[in-house]
Amino acid sequence: MAVIPVDIAGAPYEVRIGTGLLANLAAECGALLRKHRVPIVTDTNVHAAWGAVVEDSLQQAGHEAVWRILPAGEASKSWEQLAATTDWLLAQEVERGDHILALGGGVVGDLTGFAASVLKRGCKFIQLPTTLLAQVDSSVGGKTAINTAAGKNLVGAFHQPALVLADLAALDTLPQRELKAGYAEVVKYGLLGDAAFFGWCQANGAALLAGDPAAREYAVAHAVAAKARIVQADEKETLGLRALLNLGHTFGHALEAQTGFGARLLHGEGVALGMVLAARYSAERGLLSDHQAEQIAQHFADVGMASEIASLGLNCNGAALVAHMLHDKKMDAGTLPFVLLRGIGEAFLAKDVVLDDVAAFLDRELQRLV
Ligand code: GLY
Repeated sequence: MAVIPVDIAGAPYEVRIGTGLLANLAAECGALLRKHRVPIVTDTNVHAAWGAVVEDSLQQAGHEAVWRILPAGEASKSWEQLAATTDWLLAQEVERGDHILALGGGVVGDLTGFAASVLKRGCKFIQLPTTLLAQVDSSVGGKTAINTAAGKNLVGAFHQPALVLADLAALDTLPQRELKAGYAEVVKYGLLGDAAFFGWCQANGAALLAGDPAAREYAVAHAVAAKARIVQADEKETLGLRALLNLGHTFGHALEAQTGFGARLLHGEGVALGMVLAARYSAERGLLSDHQAEQIAQHFADVGMASEIASLGLNCNGAALVAHMLHDKKMDAGTLPFVLLRGIGEAFLAKDVVLDDVAAFLDRELQRLV
């Protein structure tokens, strides 16, 4: 098992990464579980796959699992589910010092974390991420949110978990497409700050996706350690460091918006394409070589992911994609900062990007032969 400390001032915690953590849940949580009844928020899919394992572990330690089971899917990150979940937690008489368990992917973690942040002005919670994306990104660092009519993640809070248990066994029950989508966020850490790790991904990404346990543990631990370093240095994204974690997200968000934020393009798939676009746009500006940008596109293609937006059949122009970007929560006094690359492993925040240039660049990408 790998243990990565996240040294946030006033709220330090550990991320433990290994196989069998859910089967051993009660022991892993230890004294954090203060009461007989343990409130757990999850979704229908994760409950079907992991509910019995979690329940058994708690039962053997003399606890009783009490469940709030959300419909699986992004639609659960809503005001309605937030209200219903907080009402449910209040009905369970959860106290500030109790720990609410969030068992699932980013939707469950974001909603539960936000509920914990507002319940009684702040309750404790434990992240039990069951997707690769949640293990390497959303469960660590304390970003919590719901979606509203105006857009995704526009209402939320920074609220750090008390513990994160990333059970690699959960990745075995994950559909290959979701695993690949999460893998994009793994590659992100190489591209933004660690060229050697991108090299590792080129050599080992296929093995990771095929289920190699050592590759999985190495990648998740490496990604979490990278995220912990960034979050420790810039918890609230005010110094321009944490913003680097948004590499590929501005382009990706526009693609997700254009495809309706649904099954047509998963978040991680949008991020992979977004990172290819950020790299090619950086190359157009002379920051990165064409060869480096194409190495990135090639890697996603090599592991069976889309690497060309022309393949999406979007039926729109670059200006339409840029229009989606204008609703980005990173908009700052009329400008939109973009994470670009000066090299593989050298991301930086560019504040001088002209959106008309981006639209023209996207027009070319939309026409690119695939
Ligand atoms: N997912 C980006 C961040 O946690 O800052």
